[in-house]
Amino acid sequence: MNLAGPAAERIDQLLWAMTALGTVVFIIFCIGLGYGLFHRRARPPEPSLEHDRRRTRMILLFGAAIPAVILVPLLLWTFDALAALDPRARRPDLVVDIVGKQWWWELRYRDSVPGRAFITANELHVPVGRRVELRLTSTDVIHSFWVPELQGKTDLIPGRENVTWIEASRPGVYPGHCAEYCGTQHAHMGLLVVAEPAEEFEAWAAQQRQPAAAPADSAAALGQQAFLASACARCHAVRGTAAGGRLGPDLTHVAGRRMLAAGTIPNTPGHMGGWIAQPQALKPGTRMPQVPMSPEEFRRIHHYMLSLR
Ligand code: CUA
Repeated sequence: MNLAGPAAERIDQLLWAMTALGTVVFIIFCIGLGYGLFHRRARPPEPSLEHDRRRTRMILLFGAAIPAVILVPLLLWTFDALAALDPRARRPDLVVDIVGKQWWWELRYRDSVPGRAFITANELHVPVGRRVELRLTSTDVIHSFWVPELQGKTDLIPGRENVTWIEASRPGVYPGHCAEYCGTQHAHMGLLVVAEPAEEFEAWAAQQRQPAAAPADSAAALGQQAFLASACARCHAVRGTAAGGRLGPDLTHVAGRRMLAAGTIPNTPGHMGGWIAQPQALKPGTRMPQVPMSPEEFRRIHHYMLSLR
């Protein structure tokens, strides 16, 4: 595993220590068991007080003393790791609310300055070396946030807020996945964590805060009209336009994301077209309905979506 953060490293060390110790104990146990099964005494020991005492000593040694010597340090090490993984252990540099939905992730970047908070979906950008606190909840069923290279799992539970954090020690794109079965398309509930140097992250965030750019040409203007007139605009928001739907992902900068449909397909013009025209074929059961549209409407809306960078 290509570990990229202090939390995942902690978990990894503990995992390997437990696996190694468990393996050693298992081998010793097998040797003892094999010896007991195949070694025959010349004759059974005579019942005696001395024999009983020896047996009691053996039970205490192998049943209590040796397990304590192995398990107590492991327990203390686990407490130490848990303390280090506790989100309250350090003040975060950034806070993002993550709302689990069937079957995608809504990401709300908080900001103490009003007007600087923004919403996006499925692609969590973070600055390298900064502690990012994640406040997790769900609006439907239980999901679980898991980015193995950065952090262990934390559930997203309706009606409650769970807190975890991530910190990437180097730039990269780290895939994450929903780790709790949540319905038909659980297998297509992925997200990407994009860790980038602070300046790049700031440039990305500044771009995300902007409303959608006004249509640059007449084709885009027609596209915007077609989009606003369609059923699409009832579920999706494009900031800066009349589309303010909250049921589906915010599309203000959808063309700038790497993947579509929560990690299901790469965000290429072809896949974007397929996703608009045939969402149920690409992700059967998705909450995105098949919106009836004429070829001309489709062409216009497709063109508009590709312009939302
Ligand atoms: Cu969401 Cu599995």
